[in-house]
Amino acid sequence: MYDVLAVREDFPVLREVIYLDSAATTQTPVQVVAAMNDYFYKYAGNHGRGAHRLAREATNHYEDARENVAKFLNVDPTKTIFTKNATESINMVAHGLEWTSGDHIVTTLIEHHSNLLPWIRLRKLGVEVTIIEPDTNGMIVPKDVENAMTDRTCLVAVTHVSNVLGSITDVSKITKIAHRGGSKILVDGSQSAGHMPVDVGALDCDFFATPGHKGLLGPQGTGVLYVREPDILEPTYLGGGTVHAVTTNGFELEPSPARFEAGTPNLPGVIGLGRAVEYVQEIGTEDIERHETSLARDAASRLEELPSVEVYGPAKRAAVVPFNVVGLNPHDVAMILDETKKICVRSGYHCAMPSLGFLGVEGAVRASFGLYSTQEEVDIFIDTVAQITSLVA
Ligand SMILES: Cc1ncc(COP(=O)(O)O)c(C=O)c1O
Repeated sequence: MYDVLAVREDFPVLREVIYLDSAATTQTPVQVVAAMNDYFYKYAGNHGRGAHRLAREATNHYEDARENVAKFLNVDPTKTIFTKNATESINMVAHGLEWTSGDHIVTTLIEHHSNLLPWIRLRKLGVEVTIIEPDTNGMIVPKDVENAMTDRTCLVAVTHVSNVLGSITDVSKITKIAHRGGSKILVDGSQSAGHMPVDVGALDCDFFATPGHKGLLGPQGTGVLYVREPDILEPTYLGGGTVHAVTTNGFELEPSPARFEAGTPNLPGVIGLGRAVEYVQEIGTEDIERHETSLARDAASRLEELPSVEVYGPAKRAAVVPFNVVGLNPHDVAMILDETKKICVRSGYHCAMPSLGFLGVEGAVRASFGLYSTQEEVDIFIDTVAQITSLVA
């Protein structure tokens, strides 16, 4: 197990606040900020667009970051595309596949809007979308996916970890089911990558989407899309960097990944992400998972013991704990946590309204944990929620 207190030294803001909102975005270690500063101070230049030394160096660092991220996910770097976030990654798949009226997609009720709205919109093209419900614990049952599939199912789109409930989906089993039924599968790894071991290569899914700014500890404005067969995907955007021949009659696309990365990319951000995955790798995702889930499960079971507190999601949860203090608005609870003890949590519907509908509530407070969270922080958090419950006693 790694030394959490030593790790915290890399995140100066944690001296000031109790940060329990890592599912929204994680804090960024100083090593990552330093890598980005190096770009700005030592070799800022554009990607693949110059013979001079700065452009060459910037390009090399950007491509090294791709190698790092691909190695981290255990996939081929040429199939590893940088995007601006998970939302863009998923939308690139929705726009880039060819759809015909009658095609069928299976997705779930516990998706983030980013892995739901792009599919719902395809109904306009005559695509049928089945949205399966989780079981009473908020878990997606692989058999339900299988039962929902038809001979027209061409995509299954599932989240690996629910950002609202913390439920962990058996994406390995669902990938096998999807492939057996002749369908492709997209896994939304936004809440899993970096928080737990995720071997995308072994998973063998067709698409894997993740932001860089959550478990991977990279900066905002970065994301990744892994595509198993790049040739089946039409690039969403075209422009500089995507082609090797252009005439007024047409153009020839570069191979993947260049064809998918139109325009000047987020060089400093991606270079930071490349350093960030090294940082996560050095600590180790098995230990990170063990640490984060033990804090989350402890917090959930102690919240459950408090009067007037409802906790949602399965007992075997990832690092996400949604709850409500009955009689109080979740935003008020979040404000009190912040005002009294500088505890930062998320409140509201978490960009996942159907998940909240499943819980039968309009909003919830969500505490979520990172590799830098401590037991002491959990204790302060639980004590403070206990004090808040006295407001409604
Ligand atoms: C499960 C899940 N999917 C997708 C997203 C969207 O991520 P981004 O805002 O980086 O595009 C999030 C963000 O919270 C998420 O939790």
